[in-house]
Amino acid sequence: MVGLQWGDEGKGKVVDYLADGFDAVVRFNGGSNAGHTVVIDGQRHTFHLIPSGALKGKELLVGAGVAVDPAVMGEELSLLPEGARGKLTVDGRCLLVSPMDKELDSALEEMRGPSAIGTTRRGIGPAYAMRALRLSPRASDLLASFDFSPIESFYRRFGLDPGGLDKWAEASRQLLAPMIGDVAARVVDICDSGGSVLYESSQGTLLDLVHGSYPYVTSTHTVSSYAPAGIGLSPSYSGAPLGVMKCYLTRVGGGPFPTEVAGELGESLRSLGKEYGATTGRPRRVGWLDLVSLKYSMSINGVREVALSKLDVLSKVKEFKVCVAYKIGGSETTDFGRALPRLGEADAVYGPTFAFRGAEIAGRIPEPMREFIDYLESELKVRVRLASYGEDRTQTIEL
Ligand code: IMP
Ligand code: MG
Repeated sequence: MVGLQWGDEGKGKVVDYLADGFDAVVRFNGGSNAGHTVVIDGQRHTFHLIPSGALKGKELLVGAGVAVDPAVMGEELSLLPEGARGKLTVDGRCLLVSPMDKELDSALEEMRGPSAIGTTRRGIGPAYAMRALRLSPRASDLLASFDFSPIESFYRRFGLDPGGLDKWAEASRQLLAPMIGDVAARVVDICDSGGSVLYESSQGTLLDLVHGSYPYVTSTHTVSSYAPAGIGLSPSYSGAPLGVMKCYLTRVGGGPFPTEVAGELGESLRSLGKEYGATTGRPRRVGWLDLVSLKYSMSINGVREVALSKLDVLSKVKEFKVCVAYKIGGSETTDFGRALPRLGEADAVYGPTFAFRGAEIAGRIPEPMREFIDYLESELKVRVRLASYGEDRTQTIEL
């Protein structure tokens, strides 16, 4: 399961809904920058690190591609229902996020000034960078005699004080040791004995480190092909990906956003959709649906089926538009890949306008909403399999 936009497509809810059909749920990318929300009887549960299958009693796996912040893991574990704690395995190859990474994340953002990325400041970028430099310990390194002197020298060399790193490592070891294992081997075991595993991506395709709107991206891959690579599996262990898309757009942080809606209308869309970051509480930027970027996301992920979220929000606005092309420097394009380097200059070209104010979903999709879904299916050559029309677990319809 992957996000097709800039994150916050409603993946937590979809994973919770679909988890019934799986034996385990595994996260394969990102870290505690993610915020996946599941609402049950008015109660919100937000997961940052732990897979969103937690409330369905599923086996929970954190794959090697995930950056694990032991402090966040500790907090999140304490919120888990009785019994779920023992169902969690963290791959020994997961990199760890230390307090130094968070400090660096904030320092780098400040250094960038007006061109700040708008990161979640959860230390994710620096943590992946430290792994690429082969300096930071991974989860299993806490169990062995890891040499911290190179990373300490590194920090000192750049005027930072690594004091306290040893205490952090010891606390992390105590917390994580009982759950460290081999997630890849576990997935293979489950699959080879006839079971199934749901791969849960975090963030969205347009935030992919390489294929997204660089430099305004996160620091891992967010696309479907990274599921096997992130976990440590052959691609033959992947099934058909399900894409999750919101029926309008949001983006948190900086970077280009061709269909952004500002002003009063934007304000109202934000408040109708409760568009505030699940991790940072920041107001999300809002905009209209963008078929140009969606086509790119579908293609890069190989998505033929999607879950469509937040239809209830659009049923509260008078009317809404759908972007079908970009205008860049006087010429029109529908090729997102080619538009990417100049995305900041792109003006949205809008196609049809839709309106379904007041349409109530009661067991089936009302006609004006059906027309919108038919339009998406034919434009995007995709099948809408699930529609979500409210934040509660029950407000989901299978099509
Ligand atoms: P980082 O992942 O914290 O480094 O942030 C990089 C960019 O990705 C920023 O624009 C963040 O707002 C965005 N981002 C990271 N995680 C999420 C997420 O889970 N949802 C939406 N945006 C995210
Ligand atoms: Mg989120």
